[in-house]
Amino acid sequence: MNTIKLVCNECGSEYEPNINPTLCIKCNEPLNLKIENKDLNYDKKLPGIYKYIPTNLFNKKIIKSLGEGDTPIVKINSVIFKLDYLNPTGSFKDRGAAIATEKAYEFGYKEVVEDSSGNAAASITNYSKLYGLNPHIFMPKDAPINKKKYIKLLGGRLHLENDRGSAFKSAISYAKEKNYYYIGHLINPFFNIGLESIAHELVYQIEYIDNIIVPLGSGGLYLGIYNGFKKLIELDRIDYMPRLHAIEVEGYIRLKEIRSSTRMSKLGDGVRVPGPPRKQEILNAIQDSNGYTEWVNDEEIALALKDLIKYGFIVEPTSAVAYAGYKKLVSKGVLDKSDNTIIVLTGNGLKMINELIKILNKV
Ligand SMILES: Cc1ncc(COP(=O)(O)O)c(C=O)c1O
Ligand SMILES: [Zn+2]
Repeated sequence: MNTIKLVCNECGSEYEPNINPTLCIKCNEPLNLKIENKDLNYDKKLPGIYKYIPTNLFNKKIIKSLGEGDTPIVKINSVIFKLDYLNPTGSFKDRGAAIATEKAYEFGYKEVVEDSSGNAAASITNYSKLYGLNPHIFMPKDAPINKKKYIKLLGGRLHLENDRGSAFKSAISYAKEKNYYYIGHLINPFFNIGLESIAHELVYQIEYIDNIIVPLGSGGLYLGIYNGFKKLIELDRIDYMPRLHAIEVEGYIRLKEIRSSTRMSKLGDGVRVPGPPRKQEILNAIQDSNGYTEWVNDEEIALALKDLIKYGFIVEPTSAVAYAGYKKLVSKGVLDKSDNTIIVLTGNGLKMINELIKILNKV
C-alpha cells in the first residue's frame, strides 16, 4: 500500500499524491512529499537517478530511464564542476522530469502542462513522449529561439506568453480548466525529488564538500540539493551539511533586500523567475546550510561564460551565473580558493550556439 502523502508546510493539510495541481486548496502553497524515515528504502541496482529515490515513490516496472543522472565531475584550478549539462536533453532538469512524468503516467493522465524558460520544457517534452503523454508547454516569447525549436522538434505543443511570470499563471489555469496534469517544475514535488539525486551522487564522488554553488531561479535545484543532503544526514551517510550558496541575476533578486536594480538580466534567461514559489523554504535552507546569497550582472555572466568555454565546457549563460557568483564570493572572502567547492553546470550551450557567439564576440 502506498502511504505517501503530500503536505502543506503552511497549514499542515494533507493530500493524496495525485492531487492536481500540487497546491494546497486552503493556502495555495506548493505541497511537499511527506516521507517518514522508515520509507527511505533505495534500490542500488536501478539505473541513473532511480537508485537515489526512495523506491515507494515510483513503480519500478514502468520506469523508462534515458540514463539521466550519474554525471561526471571535473576539477579545474581548484574548483570542482559537476557537469549536469551532459544529461540526455542537456540540463539537470532531466532528473526531475524523468520522475514527474512517470508519476503523471502512473496517475493515469494523458496530457501534461509545463511552464518553463526552455530547459525544463525540453526535458518534460522528451520524457512525456516516452510515456505516451501529450505535453502542453508554456514559454516566455523571448526564450532562446533554439529552445523553442527544440520543443517543436520533440513534439510538444508550444504556447507563447509575454514573460516567465505569465507563462506560470497561464499554465496553471490551463491545466485546471482542461483537467490536465500540472507537472510544472516550479511546484511539482515529484520533480523536486528527482533533483535530490545530485546530492547523493556528489557524496559518492567527493569525500568532503565545503560549498556548492548553484544559479537560482525557482529554487528547485537549490532545494533539491538541500533536501538530498538532509536525507543523507538522516540516513547517517554523512554527518555535515555543506554550505549551499544561491546566485541570482540582476533584476531578479528575490532573496536579498537591495537598494535598487534598474537593469534586467538578459543572459540569465533560465533564472528569470519573478517570484520563487517556495521562497520561505529557500530562505530556511540558506540559513540552515550557512549559505550565502549573491547576485551577478550580465557583464559578469559573460566573462564567466568566456572562462567556462575556454575550459572546454560548452554551457549556456545561465550556467555561468554560478561561476560568476563563485568569483564574487571568493573576492568578498566568503569562500576560500582552497575550499572544496562544487559548481553545478546546469545547461548545455549547444541549444543556443548563436547566442553564445554573440555574447563572446562582445567580451
Ligand atoms: C540552465 C539552468 N540553470 C539553472 C536554472 C535554475 O533552476 P531553478 O529554477 O530550479 O532554480 C534553470 C531553470 O530553468 C536553468 O534552465
Ligand atoms: Zn495549506
